[in-house]
Amino acid sequence: MRICIVGAGYVGLTTAAALADFGHEVLCVDMEESKINCLRQGKVPIYEPGLDELITKNVKNNKLFFSSLVEESIKEYPVILIAVGTPSKDDGSSNLMFVHRVIDVIASTTNVYKIIITKSTVPPGTNEWIHKRLIEKGIDEDLFDVVSNPEFLREGFALRDLYHPNKIVFGTKTSRPIKNLKKLYYRGKAPYIFTSLTGAELIKYASNAFLATKISFANEMARICDAYEVDYDDIAKGIGTDPRIGRYFLNSGLGFGGSCLPKDLSSLKHSAVKKNVETKLLDAVREVNDTQIDLYLNKLTTELPDLTGKRITIWGVTFKPDTDDLRSSPAVMMIKKLLEKGCQVHAYDPMVQLELSGVYSHTNQYESVKNSDALIISTEWQQFLETDWAEVKSRMKGTIVLDARNCLDGKLVRKFGFLYLRIG
Ligand code: UDX
Ligand code: UDX
Repeated sequence: MRICIVGAGYVGLTTAAALADFGHEVLCVDMEESKINCLRQGKVPIYEPGLDELITKNVKNNKLFFSSLVEESIKEYPVILIAVGTPSKDDGSSNLMFVHRVIDVIASTTNVYKIIITKSTVPPGTNEWIHKRLIEKGIDEDLFDVVSNPEFLREGFALRDLYHPNKIVFGTKTSRPIKNLKKLYYRGKAPYIFTSLTGAELIKYASNAFLATKISFANEMARICDAYEVDYDDIAKGIGTDPRIGRYFLNSGLGFGGSCLPKDLSSLKHSAVKKNVETKLLDAVREVNDTQIDLYLNKLTTELPDLTGKRITIWGVTFKPDTDDLRSSPAVMMIKKLLEKGCQVHAYDPMVQLELSGVYSHTNQYESVKNSDALIISTEWQQFLETDWAEVKSRMKGTIVLDARNCLDGKLVRKFGFLYLRIG
């Protein structure tokens, strides 16, 4: 099929590269000309394992193209896939202005049949609105089908998730586009889930809200374990063997961040309140997550009561390992709180050099701990699990290692004379 993807961000770019690799002719457009110029020179503006190679391969095979001429491109293609940003507004609702803008461009350029697929995460009712909007704009209902096709990509595993999805969700108003939709993805054994437009939107939100709930449950359990001096990992292992629970996403630590979970949790709450539905559980999930950082800071101040002027090293600034994404990163939020407490913060991350005033960003893991009073692990990069603790000991002034991702082998760290702290 000939597909135009609007939005060359994390979701748009990874999806474009994979669909081209599946054999479709794909044009990826973005309003940011600089981003498109980069891509045309073979430079990929985001880090995602395997993405560079896949883009290079499919550009070479004349399957993947890039343009910043959004309107002209949309006009030419029978399948439009929308992957523009849906950032949060102050009230937690999703800002749909970019989606609306794309829909109005589609309305002004549609004179032959088009399938309009929304991949951006949008609140329930948005795709029904899109359908109504196109009709209001005078487009005959026979000339288009709106489809909700949420993504479930994890950053750092996006291509793996595209090649090995655990499901493919399509929300439609009629069965008309289904034959074509079944040509879109290589799905392997993954089931198709066909539902209504709003059903598909809510599957996406429910998925992310459930993942967030599981993480906040893990963090609350870790707090209880801490009070009873029990190793939380034993609990996670114990309950995780039950297939009704599953060990995945039970890692306790600084809490969930990134461009999706926090944003989608707020947007779902906003959508519920709009219908006078109370969200006691979602509120609790948020509250536990929002208080995790202070919990770890309290743990630190039990050993270092006055942080003023203390030299604190932070390992990991991205919101999770294997990505360059700092969006809603708990590590960055912790750094900001340490700066507020008058600390001298030295940061090291294998992928990103944090540019934040008051922070010394290092390019060498071991240089970053020189003369430090405490070391905090805030993102569980594999590299930190393979640390040479003797080397760290020889360089640090203090002995505190605060594991804010419960990812280190505490026994090993203690063996080198460190005061190893964690929660649960
Ligand atoms: C986006 C949505 O934000 C998220 O809700 C959804 O789940 C997946 O798609 P992401 O790909 O991470 O997530 O967004 P981002 O990296 O911000 O990329 C959006 C791209 O769209 C940007 O490159 C932006 O320049 C582009 N864009 C935005 C347009 O081309 N036109 C617009 O009108 C608005
Ligand atoms: C998430 C969803 O997993 C994905 O399906 C959806 O499409 C987009 O949002 P992503 O944002 O890439 O993907 O990150 P994810 O791997 O889900 O991690 C989210 C946050 O939760 C990170 O901050 C991570 O550190 C944290 N997390 C994850 C935990 O604290 N504990 C865990 O056990 C797992």
